[in-house]
Amino acid sequence: MSFQIKTFEEYQDAYKRSVENPEEFWGDVASNFFWKRKWTNVLNWNFTEPDIKWFEGGKLNITENCLDRHIYKNGDTPAIIWEPNDPSESHRILTYKQLLTKVEQFANVLKNNNIKKGDRVCIYLPMVPELVIAVLACARIGAIHSVVFGGFSAQSIADRINDAECKLVITADGGFRGNKVLELKTIVDDALMQCKSVDKVIVLTRSRTPISMLKGRDVWWEDEIKKVETQGNPACPAEEMDAEDTLFILYTSGSTGKPKGVVHTTAGYMVYTGYTFANTFQYQPGEVYFCTADIGWITGHSYIVYGPLSQGATSLMFEGIPTFPDAGRYWDIIDKYKVNILYTAPTAIRSLMAFGDEYVDSKDLSSLRVLGSVGEPINEEAWHWYKDKIGKGKCPIADTWWQTENGGHLITPIADVTPEVPGYALLPLPGVQPCLMDENGKEIEGNDVSGNLCIKFPWPGMLRTTWGDHERCKQTYFSTYANMYFTGDGCYRSPEGYYRITGRVDDVLNVSGHRIGTAEVENAINMHSDVVESAIVGYPHPVKGQGIYAYVIANHHIDADKTRQDILQTVTRLIGAIAKPDIIQFVSDLPKTRSGKIMRRILRKVAENDLGSLGDTSTLQDPTVVEKIIEGAEKLRK
Ligand code: WT7
Repeated sequence: MSFQIKTFEEYQDAYKRSVENPEEFWGDVASNFFWKRKWTNVLNWNFTEPDIKWFEGGKLNITENCLDRHIYKNGDTPAIIWEPNDPSESHRILTYKQLLTKVEQFANVLKNNNIKKGDRVCIYLPMVPELVIAVLACARIGAIHSVVFGGFSAQSIADRINDAECKLVITADGGFRGNKVLELKTIVDDALMQCKSVDKVIVLTRSRTPISMLKGRDVWWEDEIKKVETQGNPACPAEEMDAEDTLFILYTSGSTGKPKGVVHTTAGYMVYTGYTFANTFQYQPGEVYFCTADIGWITGHSYIVYGPLSQGATSLMFEGIPTFPDAGRYWDIIDKYKVNILYTAPTAIRSLMAFGDEYVDSKDLSSLRVLGSVGEPINEEAWHWYKDKIGKGKCPIADTWWQTENGGHLITPIADVTPEVPGYALLPLPGVQPCLMDENGKEIEGNDVSGNLCIKFPWPGMLRTTWGDHERCKQTYFSTYANMYFTGDGCYRSPEGYYRITGRVDDVLNVSGHRIGTAEVENAINMHSDVVESAIVGYPHPVKGQGIYAYVIANHHIDADKTRQDILQTVTRLIGAIAKPDIIQFVSDLPKTRSGKIMRRILRKVAENDLGSLGDTSTLQDPTVVEKIIEGAEKLRK
């Protein structure tokens, strides 16, 4: 069996085999990686606990697969190409050889700062090569990384650090994003006032913003590297890890207030991200691959760092934003580095599309061979613009559906191998067994049907638990339907058997491809001293996919405009600017059932301005509430 599927027949064969004989199938895939000791058992699982073990008995280190094994033949191949925020600053290239040296160096820095296998390390860095180095250095010595996206607030960092009891934080003085400087170290300082577990902070110099450096706690990245150099730059042998040792924690929002720490383990995650990267995008040696995600999200973990590097690919990372210095920046980058594969998000496509074609037309995009999309359903208009304007009609589009919990792509077209249909994630990758379920827990068979999307059988990249709270993992993903992983997404299966994801069926929003829990935003708003109660719903937003609509009951004496600003500031403080509501409507009451449950369905319809289908409101405690809310919404729209 070949690692890379080349034709539709090969896809069908691989899929059949992966279902009929999953252990043999995944054992074959896994043999394409480097193991210190081979596994004794491919898979051991039950979905009731859940208890999932892949490649038990196997010993390995993921960094040997991402770095060391490429050195002999491809040591001078660029592993990372880094494009800075400001195009007038020089770009950087790290070959596999250079990246390995830097990872070993920084791994020794971590050791010098008392970090050992199993310790948790929080990483809060801008999109610079040192972020990749820090992540891989943790993996090198078996420390568990918890990367926090640079847009999260001090409070969010503190919550994540405390939940995982991180010992060390790696950050930078500041980071650049367009015209702005993010004050990363200052934000970390605020967070650490609440964190007892942290005794060291390593600070990278990036923006040279003035920051405080606390004696005994804060050290400079550059000084620590010098110490290693004076020690003679010793190698840092890769720690021997068990297949199921935790590789990292990544926090994500759910339908309750507190983000959960999704746990990914070493071998299964490595095999799955490597396999899906190579297959979905059909990566060919020598190609330049550009994923526009931030490493603070799962897409960056799996498809900037681990997946591409395990395959010896050249992964381009970009520090800035798509609209700086102008809306042609992505196209400039593609032109400059002759990018072959572009992996981006519908929200970015829609936003760039709105700036007009003149930003695209003058750029040479002829190097592009494959396009990818991720994060949310892609609307047809954006799909066609991507296909025709960016791909010039010749590049396949892989609309990859997956989740933080999945580790890698589950349902996606395979470039030039499977068909493509706009808006469809299409077909499951080998090893993935999707099914649609109805409200009563029954599987919906056949085609041209819709239901809740579940997965029947484990795949190597799936989450194993939620950090410190296994029960929560069980409740969230494995209890809605017996013996199945529940995705939280709704899905349609076409007459051809193709899958189209229709969006979340739970109280989770998807704003610009980022997952935001309604309860989390409500909790933040309710912290405002003048707020009595609030309810958050999503509504269709032309660029973000979904916008955040907040209905807020406030004290009577407020000045609406000022309080609105204060609420935005409160949310920014407690979660981060990414969770700020787009619309805040003050209401005197919320529509509730007689048992006191908020009828979100009605609030959603009002937010969407879809008043024709409000449904039955007679079961409400007070049906007149709805009229007042509709009136208020109309005023707001004017
Ligand atoms: C949710 C997962 C892992 C990717 C980044 C987002 C939605 C993701 C697609 C797609 C339709 C998509 C789903 C999913 N989603 N990709 N191609 N088509 N919907 O990761 O934050 O874990 O969110 O994003 O609703 O459940 P995430």
